[in-house]
Amino acid sequence: MAAHAPSGHEKIETSNFLMIVLILIVLSIGGLVEIVPLFFQRSTTQPVAGLEPYSALQLAGRDIYIREGCYNCHSQMIRTFRSEVLRYGPVSLAGEFVYDHPFQWGSKRTGPDLHRVGGKYSDEWHRVHLLDPRDLVPESNMPAYPWLAGAALDPTSIAPRMKALRLVGVPYSDDAIGRAADDVKGHTELDALIAYLQVLGTARK
Ligand code: HEC
Repeated sequence: MAAHAPSGHEKIETSNFLMIVLILIVLSIGGLVEIVPLFFQRSTTQPVAGLEPYSALQLAGRDIYIREGCYNCHSQMIRTFRSEVLRYGPVSLAGEFVYDHPFQWGSKRTGPDLHRVGGKYSDEWHRVHLLDPRDLVPESNMPAYPWLAGAALDPTSIAPRMKALRLVGVPYSDDAIGRAADDVKGHTELDALIAYLQVLGTARK
């Protein structure tokens, strides 16, 4: 060690306490500058034209998507690269996800992005694919989900979820919430998951 009294940066580097406090201050300022403006930007807070809240059946399907961990292999986020737009369709916009709590952007793609999969295949295609992906795509390593076809939805569970979503800004009408139980009655989890997949990314088409 040099025999002089520590000064300037050396003081910070040799004090855990000072180092931690100053790092926290720098990170907080950086975070505020990057994050706070997004709360006030229309393009990130307003729904795109044509965006509808999920129907009761689609919402039930979304819960199954989350429960089964589909997001571990699938993103719902088409990035601003030509290769992505050519493969998946128009770039994802923040305004398409304002009714998603939490959003399903994902962070890993073992399988393809699903943001614009709505309408790409028939319901029947999804049915066969979810029961055993290898019936349609022999080299697929996606798991099979055969139990979904035999699992009935619980009609009483969906209205409370819609009410909870309304609290955080999803514009469900009393009417839609009142009809929720009837909308999902008699459907299987597989029906719901397919209804959800078929609406993904369709607001902008
Ligand atoms: C272990 C990773 C993995 C998991 C978990 C997974 N998938 Fe997949 N998925 C894939 C792969 C790989 C493909 C591409 C091959 C194929 O079509 O089967 C794919 C394809 C798809 C496709 C067709 C996409 C297209 O554009 O052709 C859909 C739809 C799909 N998955 C839905 C789901 C759903 C819904 C779940 C949850 C119930 C799920 N996946 C779970 C890996 C996975």
